[in-house]
Amino acid sequence: MNNWIDRAEKVIRRCEEVACWTDEPGHITRTFLSPSTRDVHACLRQWMEDVGMAVRLDAAGNLRGVRPGSQPSDPVLYLGSHIDTVPHAGAFDGVLGVVLAIALVEALENRRLPFAIEAVAFSEEEGVRFGVPFIGSRALAGTVDAELLARRDALGNTVADAIREFGLDPERLPEAAVGHGGLGYLEFHIEQGPVLESVHLPLGIVESIAGQSRFAIVFEGRANHAGTTPAPLRRDALAGAAEWIGRVEREACMTPDLRATVGSLEVQPGASNVIAGKVLATLDVRHSSDDIRLHAVASLLDAATQIAARRGLAVSWEQRLDQPATPTDPSLLAALERAVTRAGFPAHRLASGAGHDAMVMAKICPSAMLFLRSPGGISHHPDETVLPGDVAAALAVGVAFLEEAEALRA
Ligand code: GLV
Ligand code: MN
Ligand code: MN
Repeated sequence: MNNWIDRAEKVIRRCEEVACWTDEPGHITRTFLSPSTRDVHACLRQWMEDVGMAVRLDAAGNLRGVRPGSQPSDPVLYLGSHIDTVPHAGAFDGVLGVVLAIALVEALENRRLPFAIEAVAFSEEEGVRFGVPFIGSRALAGTVDAELLARRDALGNTVADAIREFGLDPERLPEAAVGHGGLGYLEFHIEQGPVLESVHLPLGIVESIAGQSRFAIVFEGRANHAGTTPAPLRRDALAGAAEWIGRVEREACMTPDLRATVGSLEVQPGASNVIAGKVLATLDVRHSSDDIRLHAVASLLDAATQIAARRGLAVSWEQRLDQPATPTDPSLLAALERAVTRAGFPAHRLASGAGHDAMVMAKICPSAMLFLRSPGGISHHPDETVLPGDVAAALAVGVAFLEEAEALRA
């Protein structure tokens, strides 16, 4: 295990090094193909090349390092995660899975395997810049369409503009797609929640990933003077949005295991002495049952309509994501379970409430995930961290999994 601890400490140092590349000094914030992504690519490219991988950047800005198999015709096992972040993020969400993939390839040294390994640093998973997640993994799945390319960020730039601005060519996106012949996809990720810590375990095997709905919602009233307009004569978009947000919270409290979040509000014109004329809000709803999620979404949109009507407001929405719940692949899950057991850890299964690139990769190849305990259950926050012993455990399981994958191939 000592050997693994040294490697684990190197993995953690590298994640912290990547975290220095940010769009916002003093915080970790990195969105799709933002300037700091170039520096992250340079770092990762060097580390991939140092372990003998052939590296390329695809047209969606995914950095991809390949370790060949024994034969050119060998299938590919994909390992990876994303390198974009939420605003004011921690250092491990996403990046850990990429750096661990490189560390695993390093640990293999000259060992020959009957499959190639492709480590993928997905360019985008969080959905921060364009309001839609998974741009990177959708490129591998071949599902980046004209609608996605035309989506605009807050400055009015489209996804296609962002790709061109980065020096890449959106016309070449089809070359990023990998088809259905992959041996599988394995993603290492921090749990981002408190479950593993509560059962005192370093690792968990993901059996399913909750489905997600995301919306952009607009409440429109009339801006007016805050000192002269009596309450009954107002059409206050923010008061309407606030009432609805309370309703969103109640829905989540009343429905077991439902997550419903309004994570962002923009109030216009946004002055203390002006009644809010317009509010732009987001809605994020998740559940492991698609029926329960869709029922909650319908109920919350209906509530928005009713609250708006009662207050003389207009409300409209645009759906940004409808991602079904995704079970992980049973044979990869069983192989991961054997690997965890062989490495000396209990094979604990759990569900993921967070979304992951594995949801998209599952459309094109068998996919699985291994979670590492999140101390304090904290993520999407600068205090997000991981324990060296848990990273060492994940590395030991990773090597055992590659041996199990040899058997899957046989
Ligand atoms: C990704 O971090 C998500 O929002 O689930
Ligand atoms: Mn995240
Ligand atoms: Mn993530």
